[in-house]
Amino acid sequence: MKILFYDTFDYDKSSFENALKDYPDITIDFLEADLNPMTATLANGYDAVCGFVNSDIKAMTLEILAGFGIKLVLMRCAGFDAVNLDVARDLGMSVLRVPGYSPEAIAEFALGLALAADRHIVRGYNRVRENDYSLSGLLGTTFHGKTAGIVGTGKIGAAMCKIVAGLGMRVLGYDPYPNPSLEGIVEYVELDELLAQSDLISLHSPLFESNYHMIDDDAIAKMKDGVVFVNTGRGGLVDTQALIRGIRSHKIGAAGIDVYEEEGPNVFKNRSSAVFESVTSTLCAFPNVVVTSHQAFFTRGALDAIAHTTLDNAMAYVNGTVDQLPKPNVVC
Ligand code: NAI
Repeated sequence: MKILFYDTFDYDKSSFENALKDYPDITIDFLEADLNPMTATLANGYDAVCGFVNSDIKAMTLEILAGFGIKLVLMRCAGFDAVNLDVARDLGMSVLRVPGYSPEAIAEFALGLALAADRHIVRGYNRVRENDYSLSGLLGTTFHGKTAGIVGTGKIGAAMCKIVAGLGMRVLGYDPYPNPSLEGIVEYVELDELLAQSDLISLHSPLFESNYHMIDDDAIAKMKDGVVFVNTGRGGLVDTQALIRGIRSHKIGAAGIDVYEEEGPNVFKNRSSAVFESVTSTLCAFPNVVVTSHQAFFTRGALDAIAHTTLDNAMAYVNGTVDQLPKPNVVC
């Protein structure tokens, strides 16, 4: 099977080339360009394409691919909102994805963000580089003995609950579907109670229309003064302007932000020659905020898991055993 990979960076190439040793029947060509109606024409002669979160796999792209006889779209990510599934189904195409690759990778990063922001690790490091060994302005919180509020206790949230429990924190959870595996670790409460009682709040819920801006001015007003707030979930869960107001008013004592609403044009791009967009520059201007760019998943283990699951999906298609894949892998 010959697969054309779109929107690839050096790290995609190396993780997939490494995994390919276990899949002698698959060959891959890597493109930097993302998949869209223009670049879909490059897939002529391939058996499948592999897209990523920002690919445009809507009707026109799918029709061009189907015109070349390509019936398999592999997504090397969990999300599949980039694909028009109705059109894919009508064209008899299969869309396969990687639903959960390394929940611990994201949870560990969320704790890292909390510590980096609240304990001013980046500022401390920058001071030392400037030969400045003063501590004023670097005061943080001891999490041990405090309360953590985890919003969304699925795979990633559950890993986060265990990590913060390991720090000696009391753990509150909010999730419409409580996770039975967390019995004895998490006390489930309503969102308002979680907001009111938590010293550290970390978001691990997917984004739906129903929870868009679940963290708005009202929600922030209910939080403890000086709360440490972390978002590795999705930007749209938080009203960014409300977050900025919360940081300005000192309601939020520190924030670690891996995802934010206006991240779209920035994600995974080197835009160092362009001027900062206003939200990025505002967030970066706060001394108690650490912003990263959708980086929480980015570990060797996660890339390795993404590569193997994507290639397992491809082989299942070749062997006609898609129905034996774990159900969440099969989008259509
Ligand atoms: P999951 O499906 O295992 O768990 C999600 C949990 O959120 C479920 O238990 C669900 O009941 C709960 N939930 C749904 N609506 C909710 C609401 N309104 N309030 C609270 N909880 C709610 O998903 P998983 O693997 O844990 O991923 C969670 C999210 O993390 C993803 O949807 C994605 O947005 C984000 N993510 C971020 C990454 C990053 O690099 N920053 C990487 C991967 C995922």
